[in-house]
Amino acid sequence: MSARQMAKEQPESFEFNQKYAELAQARIAMYPEGKQASAIVPLLWFAQKQHNNWIPEAALRHIGDMLGMAYIRVLEVVTFYTMFNLSPVGKHFVQFCGTTPCWLNGADKIKQACKDVIGDENTITADGEFSWLEVECLGACVNAPMVQINDDYYEDLDEDNFKQLLTDLKSGKPTKIGTQIDRVNAAPCGGNTSLTEDSLFDGSMVGGYKAVLKQIEKAEADAAKAAALEAAKQAKEAEKAEKAKSEKPKKTTAKKTTSKKASSKKAKKEDK
Ligand code: FES
Repeated sequence: MSARQMAKEQPESFEFNQKYAELAQARIAMYPEGKQASAIVPLLWFAQKQHNNWIPEAALRHIGDMLGMAYIRVLEVVTFYTMFNLSPVGKHFVQFCGTTPCWLNGADKIKQACKDVIGDENTITADGEFSWLEVECLGACVNAPMVQINDDYYEDLDEDNFKQLLTDLKSGKPTKIGTQIDRVNAAPCGGNTSLTEDSLFDGSMVGGYKAVLKQIEKAEADAAKAAALEAAKQAKEAEKAEKAKSEKPKKTTAKKTTSKKASSKKAKKEDK
């Protein structure tokens, strides 16, 4: 973690140059009267940009005066964020992420490479080219392990590609910002494993949902029609069964009446 202490050797004074003075005034103007102190973080950032990536004490006082803030308040803000350097850093300032996802993915080897190639943390190399600092998560965990060097992220590092990166930076060779392996941004390594249909991305499916909706509506209408037919069929069968049920007892009564008549006829015959 960053040592939040100011450098022992400090410049006598600090003034924004014209470019950053204009940017600072524009930023201050964004806030309502009495709330100018809200511009402190961008102003600190401008001071750091102007002053070789670190903020001297004179700049803290200058910003405090510009915003009408007590110097101690400015110090409270500047010491809270590791993005602000309070002492000189190397030309290539490496912020190494040692938080869990990066650590689980091999950050220890990157840290060791920092020690081997650059030296101790918060120490500038003799040629002024490098210094490094361990910081907390820089928000690129999906491509862990990673480092930030000045304003750029370098991701998917291993010991070899990180050391090569430092060599290239030192020799002024162009470097590849972002992932250092064969993937696009944070896409899966080795290419996509799902959603691979070209038609998903080439625009040919624009409006395609309407056809799918029609299919769904037709299927629902067909199902409703089939259900109605089935219900009608069942109702007809139930009616038929009911009719058959109501006709059966009549036949029995007729038979019984017939046999009753026959028995009385037989009895009369015997009486005679
Ligand atoms: S843990 Fe390293 S970028 Fe998030």
